[in-house]
Amino acid sequence: MAVGVFDSGLGGLTVLAALQDRLPDVPFVYLGDNANAPYGVRTADDIFDLTCQGVERLWAEGCDLVILACNTASAAALKRMQETWIPEGKRVLGVFVPLIEALTERQWGDNSPPREVSVKHVALFATPATVASRAFQRELAFRAIGVDVEAQPCGGVVDAIEAGDEILAEALVKSHVEALLRRMPKPDAAVLGCTHYPLMERVFQAAVGEGVAVYSQPRLVAAALEDYLVRRPEFVGAGRTQRYLTTGNVESVSAHATQFLRRGVRFEAA
Ligand code: DGL
Repeated sequence: MAVGVFDSGLGGLTVLAALQDRLPDVPFVYLGDNANAPYGVRTADDIFDLTCQGVERLWAEGCDLVILACNTASAAALKRMQETWIPEGKRVLGVFVPLIEALTERQWGDNSPPREVSVKHVALFATPATVASRAFQRELAFRAIGVDVEAQPCGGVVDAIEAGDEILAEALVKSHVEALLRRMPKPDAAVLGCTHYPLMERVFQAAVGEGVAVYSQPRLVAAALEDYLVRRPEFVGAGRTQRYLTTGNVESVSAHATQFLRRGVRFEAA
């Protein structure tokens, strides 16, 4: 049994790389639903259906535990999946909570009432579906009070990355950051609320300003998974097979993954 990692496309590879660094003995099976990316402009029902299909594919690989390395799926589908769909003996975890716990200075499992935290003004960059779900604000409100969140739906960025167009992705990131800074000129923190965005992290950091703390998910999610597997060791599999699966075109997905990660990645058809 390996651990599954799911994303609409290439973005989850940023999380996978951190997971592989942190947990070198755990075999991971990655599935990118590149044929249906981007998810961020789809309806919640559509995202739910596609995410369930992807998770089932990873269960078929022997991954009883699947990480949704996708904020859009975590925001638009995970709660419904957990409430209505996931069978006994399987687990699906999202990427939101580790990020929000870091932002609100909380340890895992700290369910104490919401309190004041040091960040007061947060710039959130995410896909249109994640912004529309308000899942980030909802999770934040459970843990913190008095935090002002300004959210920017970053239309086009995921499409540009999926198409391998770094120049367009960079231009779009700059213009989305400028648009947000017009509404919130001095954020304390910037949250990259889409797993594709760490591929553009340097561009986000330069555009928000070097003094602004940028919260990026991969390392936070890896630390949270390590902690989870200590508490739930039954989900640490004995399998050794690491695989990269895609619903998209194997050649172009492999080429774009290699381009963005700056190392060779070879996908197989899902
Ligand atoms: N990486 C996904 C996320 O974290 C991208 C969503 C999309 O396909 O638009 O939201």
